[in-house]
Amino acid sequence: MHRLVTVMKKVIITIDGWSSTGKSTLAKQMAKALGYIYVDSGAMYRAVTLFFLRNHVDWTDRREVKKALKEINIEFQNNPKTETSEIYLNGENVEYVIRDLVVAEKVSEIAAIREVREFAVAQQQKMGKDKGIVMDGRDIGTVVFPHAELKIFMEADSSVRVARRFKELFAKNPNITIEEVKSNLEMRDYIDSHREVSPLRKADDSFVLDNTNLTEKEQFQKAIEWAKRKISSTLD
Ligand code: CDP
Repeated sequence: MHRLVTVMKKVIITIDGWSSTGKSTLAKQMAKALGYIYVDSGAMYRAVTLFFLRNHVDWTDRREVKKALKEINIEFQNNPKTETSEIYLNGENVEYVIRDLVVAEKVSEIAAIREVREFAVAQQQKMGKDKGIVMDGRDIGTVVFPHAELKIFMEADSSVRVARRFKELFAKNPNITIEEVKSNLEMRDYIDSHREVSPLRKADDSFVLDNTNLTEKEQFQKAIEWAKRKISSTLD
């Protein structure tokens, strides 16, 4: 993709929203165009979930959670082939395995734990300290970077979201059913928006992007326009 600007003022762009609204697709495109870093905060919660599942951590026990978090190291590394960052859990590339429905079934429960959020948010804020970052998630514009220059909140009709996620997961696992995908999205949206710590909500100063009837290209054009305007109006 054409890089828009080589020497760009660095700002923070946050993309929050409901499950499967295409946040990461847009975030990756924007980061590439602006020469910014892309961070998938959801991948961090998914990686923690994978660790808890593999190691039989009882996440209802705070002490066990705290102990387990001390054993977790999360890093992002650029994959030169795909030109995007991928997540590593204790040195292992888990970018693909964390997308599994087994992880998706538990991730919202685990992401609602205060200690888990503190662990992830501290790292996210560190990654954004030099700006020049696009981060997607649920609480990025509200909690992680409340002073971000551009905040986008993504929405789409639920049937469209289910169909998109089903297509993605079916390509990897033909045994998956549309009902499983639908109930997982509904469950996660419910838990994510009703939890006590940092629930999913639209920041008052965010731009809403409903992509039910937009192509990837159309949504990108809209969002990059907003970004260019914000960047040019931001003082050094
Ligand atoms: O791709 P999708 O939108 O379905 O989910 P994701 O971004 O991979 O996030 C997976 C889960 O992590 C969400 O359902 C939330 O429970 C949690 N999450 C969160 O609590 N806070 C974030 N900033 C990002 C994700």
